[in-house]
Amino acid sequence: MAVLRFSIAIFISALVLPVTSVMAQTAPSDEERVEDLLSQMTLKEKVGQVSQFTGFWDVTGPAPTDETQARKAELLKSGIIGSMLNVVGVEEVRPIQEYALNSRLGIPVIFGLDVVHGHKTMFPIPLAEAASWDLDMIEQSARVSAIEAAAQGQTWTFAPMVDISRDPRWGRVMEGAGEDPYLGSRIAVARIRGFQGDDLSAPDTIVATLKHFAGYGFAESGKDYNTVDVGTVTLHNVILPPFKAGVEEADARTVMNGFNTLNGLPVTGDGYLQRELLKGEWGFDGFVVSDWASAREMIDHGYAKNSVDAALKAMEAGSDMDMESYVYLDHLEDLVDSGTLDVALLDDAVRRILRVKFELGLFDDPYKYLDADREAELLLTPAHREASLKMAERSIVLLKNDDDTLPIRKGEKIVLIGTLAADKDSPLGNWRAMADDHSAVSVVEAFEAAGLDFVYAEGAVLEIGDAAFPNEVVVNLTDRSGFPEAVEAARNADKVIIVLGEDGLQSGEGRSRSELGFPGVQQELLEAVYEANPETALVVMSGRPLVLTWAEAHVPAIVQAWHLGQESGHALTNVLTGAYNPSGKLPMTFPRSVGQIPIYYSHLNTGRPGPLTDVFWSHYIDESNAPLWPFGYGLSYTTFEYSNLRALKRGDVVEVSVRVKNTGSRAGEEVVQLYIRDIAASVSRPVRELKDFSKIELAPGKRMTVTFELGAEDLGFYNANGSYVVEPGDFEVFVGGSSDATLSTSFEY
Ligand code: BGC
Repeated sequence: MAVLRFSIAIFISALVLPVTSVMAQTAPSDEERVEDLLSQMTLKEKVGQVSQFTGFWDVTGPAPTDETQARKAELLKSGIIGSMLNVVGVEEVRPIQEYALNSRLGIPVIFGLDVVHGHKTMFPIPLAEAASWDLDMIEQSARVSAIEAAAQGQTWTFAPMVDISRDPRWGRVMEGAGEDPYLGSRIAVARIRGFQGDDLSAPDTIVATLKHFAGYGFAESGKDYNTVDVGTVTLHNVILPPFKAGVEEADARTVMNGFNTLNGLPVTGDGYLQRELLKGEWGFDGFVVSDWASAREMIDHGYAKNSVDAALKAMEAGSDMDMESYVYLDHLEDLVDSGTLDVALLDDAVRRILRVKFELGLFDDPYKYLDADREAELLLTPAHREASLKMAERSIVLLKNDDDTLPIRKGEKIVLIGTLAADKDSPLGNWRAMADDHSAVSVVEAFEAAGLDFVYAEGAVLEIGDAAFPNEVVVNLTDRSGFPEAVEAARNADKVIIVLGEDGLQSGEGRSRSELGFPGVQQELLEAVYEANPETALVVMSGRPLVLTWAEAHVPAIVQAWHLGQESGHALTNVLTGAYNPSGKLPMTFPRSVGQIPIYYSHLNTGRPGPLTDVFWSHYIDESNAPLWPFGYGLSYTTFEYSNLRALKRGDVVEVSVRVKNTGSRAGEEVVQLYIRDIAASVSRPVRELKDFSKIELAPGKRMTVTFELGAEDLGFYNANGSYVVEPGDFEVFVGGSSDATLSTSFEY
């Protein structure tokens, strides 16, 4: 009956509607247009579509003389390049797009860039944003990045990086959301929604990339690009969830594979991950891009014999686009011609790439991202800076605050110490897209703007040398000449604010560290200053958790400030003065010593959790098992009390409720966190797992009841075969303001 009604309706409307409307109704769908285009493409053009190359020449300067650049120009003119990266700005992008549009089929190029935590307006590094646990604000941050990037001709960002990592030695923890798969999944979804918006064809939305698929964050010994070896249970329960959520809940349109091997196989050549799981089980219909030259690097991994073999293995495994290794461009044609590679695989890759280009609206208006007026209007606007400031305030974590050392009291004479306090560059962090160097607001500038009574002393220099290769040109890390001035100033002040940590380029890709103290002589400076005046608050700027064990044992107040972006100084000043009451919670465990790494809250119990009176239990003889600060931890200038925890089963759902009261004298925000423990299961389950959280705001003296619901999808897990199972049994539930929350109850499911 329904079918009949439908066809009658079409018949009637065909009679009464004008001809153009009828034509509009029958306009081909994107899928039909993709197939039509694909059917017209030569083999060479298909190979071009799956090839991506970096940067071009300055179009305002002379034509390129360099052979590689000249080759790229020729390829573009013949329609043989599908994508470019690192070409930014309307003036730069437009001529390249014109080349492509004037080629035989006029297929537009998709332009990509690492817009990781801001484009022109820098936001806090992603690890810092994760500390806010504020999903709306994180989505907003990605939204602003997309608006700015799109205004500069970009249609694609290589973000978010959703690699879970439990190893702060790995420099790229700055780029992720920390150690936890649940928090990581929520943040992945928020970021993708921010970048892609509701309509990819709008002129201010861009394609997001889930990266690096998969396992990159589990690099052995925290050394970048290193081997990854993890079992099925960890792969499915810890590493994959943010990717799965990003695909299934937020429809991320691209995925990037990685540099690493996973259980012996380079992930770029991993057909199980890319074809079976991602494109098969999860139904991903966007495209996969390789990481930079990762297809060619399969030769170094000892997995491909040569570049021909690398091209074959990457394409067969489902790596659709080759970033910068030329192996597709150089070999795919021959591989198809010789019958070695099934052209259907290449067609599938091209189809996926064209689909995303259609979704972006590039075929209907290839210049919609190339409007010079938008470019002039939309970068670094006051509203974007304001959003960055708000995000930065919420990213700061108060780690310690004995005797209300903070906030700074009115009239207090302050000495501000540390080269990072005056640094306008480091707060921009690594991966800074198009931000101008030295453009962040420093703490010194912000203190001045706030009219604080303070003197500044540099204390110790932290000059790490060449921006691109900071580890190779380490200069000036042993200069103690500023110590006497800083110590003297500390002696004469009511309170010391000392800002120490890492330069903005000491974390990020290729920046693994084996020691996690303050670089250079900063620790010595801290000790000297503290001795002169114990009324000290330490502010730590870093791209990763550092080992702050000495500071925790001595210094009364500690603030984790990460690298906070453009408005860093103002955000910190607002927290230090109490204008903003800090609400951040750690997205990664802070270790007591490097030897504890990897350290994370959701570990297994072991058969000998202890403590026992003999030595035969799982522990160190020279270090505690406890972290310095656990995942989820962070203080406020007010206090919160948790009570009345209840877990009630209603049908298939367990309703968990808790009462939270603001017991201090200031309004404040609290991240109420819910953890479970599955007591006995077919594989050992972690001692705690985050399953939900809610960020609430409470006026002093006020209380509220927070309610969570746990369903089968929260209580199940992936078993030893990688299958999702929900097993009946007993569960413990913990709720509080940190992963070491003590309030608990239990239920049976
Ligand atoms: C990184 C990727 C990044 C790419 C392009 C690689 O070195 O691993 O995350 O997107 O470069 O800049």
